[in-house]
Amino acid sequence: MIHASSARACGIDFGTSNSTVGWLRPQAPTLLLLEEDKPTLPSIVFFNAEDDTITFGRAGLREYLEGCEGRLMRSLKSLLGSSLIDGRTEVQGRTVVFRDLLTHFIGSLKARAENQSGRSFDQAVFGRPVYFVDDDEAADQLAEQTLAGIARAVGFKDVTFQYEPIAAAFHYERDIHREELVLIADIGGGTSDFSLVRLSPERAKAADRRADVLANGGVHIGGTDFDRQLSLASVMPQLGYRSLLSNGREMPAGIYFNLATWHTINFAYTRQVWAEQQQLTLEAMNPEALERLQRLIELRAGHWLAHQVEEAKIALSAHDTTTLSLERFAPDVFHDLSRIEFELATTQLVEKVEGTVATLLREAGVAAGGIDTVFFTGGSSGIPLLRRRIAALLPKARVVEGDLFGSIGAGLAVEAARRFG
Ligand SMILES: Nc1ncnc2c1ncn2[C@@H]1O[C@H](COP(=O)(O)OP(=O)(O)OP(=O)(O)O)[C@@H](O)[C@H]1O
Ligand SMILES: [Mg+2]
Repeated sequence: MIHASSARACGIDFGTSNSTVGWLRPQAPTLLLLEEDKPTLPSIVFFNAEDDTITFGRAGLREYLEGCEGRLMRSLKSLLGSSLIDGRTEVQGRTVVFRDLLTHFIGSLKARAENQSGRSFDQAVFGRPVYFVDDDEAADQLAEQTLAGIARAVGFKDVTFQYEPIAAAFHYERDIHREELVLIADIGGGTSDFSLVRLSPERAKAADRRADVLANGGVHIGGTDFDRQLSLASVMPQLGYRSLLSNGREMPAGIYFNLATWHTINFAYTRQVWAEQQQLTLEAMNPEALERLQRLIELRAGHWLAHQVEEAKIALSAHDTTTLSLERFAPDVFHDLSRIEFELATTQLVEKVEGTVATLLREAGVAAGGIDTVFFTGGSSGIPLLRRRIAALLPKARVVEGDLFGSIGAGLAVEAARRFG
């Protein structure tokens, strides 16, 4: 599709970990630069309680890491479709409502895109995972409605949606010269999404592409779940997870699950949790571990720790081993990690994602050998085991790697131009 002039609408990829805005225009890159000359704005919000401001992206993360008093939120997309969206966290006598943080974030995406493009956007195509919520259609619809409501609240007049992997397909289609049957695998921070599509330069010209989509599938598993499993397997035991109390019982696991899950970390910082922890420390058989946990809570270092775990996970995509330090709250603790340990801790996740692809292929009634290409996008497609296992399901397919963090936003821009002109 060749456009002589700039499109009227933009495409917005609001991701669990990173967001982008695409705008199709002639002779210029599709993705707008959102922060520090980069096309991604990490989906991070920091409420700074010291000066009552809200900062986003890398800048927000920096303020938190520098130790400003406040609240960090990541993985806000995971709250869509659940009652947690109306959850709140207290900081210095102020109540911060997660839905409001999400609204500020989407508003900032719009403002940054408009600032970069020098025009305003009234119309947008938002990406959405195939399932925001697994096995619950009502919650899934609610998630989309919530996001649409927030988009309208920040000033978009027309808001439509497209599946994220379909958007990636349209981005890839701009680079091909003949027809291909393609499995798009978009493995992000929150979800793994797949589409089986017939793509060609000819087909790209059609206004309605429904006949070219053979199947869609997805599961609510992404990089943040890999972070959680790695944390529970290797880091949380250092803070007392699975250790015993004097009555012979195990430490309650709730706080460890909350700390290992990006969007529930702030739940570890309530007064009630603090009181419970004081009591449990007195009863602990391994008080040293519980003292580390207390120190982490005192320093509000939950996101710092999750960040270390995420970095270690990413390092293990390229190396066999890495070292994780807990220096912020336990200067003496270093933990060596190996890729094998990571793979053992995440086997079930990998199998579920693999099963989702196998089901999609079965339901589409397409022989695996008939698929020409598997196109990988999304940061978590960098996990070697995951990529190997998916590629093994498609023995004849050529493996193509997209722009891991940009294909969805760029494809949504193509869709926005198609829908809105
Ligand atoms: N080299 C790597 N190896 C493994 N994981 C990686 C690598 N690079 C980034 N990741 C992970 O990729 C995830 C982010 O990917 P991406 O930006 O595609 O997600 P997203 O689009 O925000 O999420 P979603 O589409 O699920 O809402 C994070 O969990 C991050 O830790
Ligand atoms: Mg994504």
